[in-house]
Amino acid sequence: MFNAERFVNEQIEEMRSKIKGKAIIACSGGVDSTVAAVLASRAVGDRLLTVYVNNGFMRKGETEAVGKMFDTLGVNYRLVDASEEFFAAMKGVTDPERKRKIIGERFIRVFERTAKEFGAKYLVQGTIAPDWIESGDGVRDVIKSHHNVGGLPKDMDMELVEPLRDLYKDEVRVVARYLNVQVAERQPFPGPALAIRVLGEVTPESVEIVREACAIVEEEIERASAAGKMTRPWQYFAVLLPCQSVGVQGDNRAYGRTIAVRSVESIDGMSAAYSRIPHEVLERISVRITNEMKSDVNRVVYDITNKPPATVEWE
Ligand code: XMP
Repeated sequence: MFNAERFVNEQIEEMRSKIKGKAIIACSGGVDSTVAAVLASRAVGDRLLTVYVNNGFMRKGETEAVGKMFDTLGVNYRLVDASEEFFAAMKGVTDPERKRKIIGERFIRVFERTAKEFGAKYLVQGTIAPDWIESGDGVRDVIKSHHNVGGLPKDMDMELVEPLRDLYKDEVRVVARYLNVQVAERQPFPGPALAIRVLGEVTPESVEIVREACAIVEEEIERASAAGKMTRPWQYFAVLLPCQSVGVQGDNRAYGRTIAVRSVESIDGMSAAYSRIPHEVLERISVRITNEMKSDVNRVVYDITNKPPATVEWE
């Protein structure tokens, strides 16, 4: 049986003895990195700088919300806006693995710069077990290079500290609840963010489309769950497909983009089943997306694939 109190005490002790000088942590505001930040901050106090990088691929209102959360948690933090450099690095890139590697490397470069200014010698990360298992450890195949593993450059000059390395998602949530971190019930969000929910080239325009569609999916599913029409799924979002299809708008032919809605039930992300969402909820999502985003999107489809054979994210 997993014991959160023992885990927390052990990790704080271990980090205290390991981290001799200043440390930096990359915190996206997700469950994993926030729990890692709170643990590390309890271990070394103000010798830890929590850094949130706005890569330009975050969800609607996310950067502002994360800033507020850090204020509440009382951690020492900095918000870095690096969106221009991330979009520049994504120019012309369509291959999912290249996207992940480039984003991971860019993250590390931004952290290295920030770490140098702060004088940090240690990099704390919220890597959890499925991240490194699925990134291939020499025994298993590479399924996806999770950005916080596969993207690590060989010449990184900080020592890595990964307090959550042996935990699965459900255990991280137990720790979050134990630590009273409000983010505990948030749905998981991938490190490369919306960049892997835009199939094909990632541009400010394509990210804006998927950002808006994701916000509608989240709103409608959360509204229906709160009204008791369904139980809140484990994860739910939109994906922008790299194809156009013919539609009709008023009396005119339209040739617009397609949004795929993805929603799954899972325990730890290692396997997943698609959510049996009521059709009325799916229809509301479809109507809202095609109404509110009519200049871009004219078709919405629902993904009914389990993992395996699919993965949760499309890239
Ligand atoms: P997949 O797509 O591999 O996703 O079936 C399983 C779970 O992991 C999330 N995910 C990531 N999380 N860094 C992360 O921290 C990543 O690079 C990454 N890729 C996928 C995904 O959202 C799902 O919850």
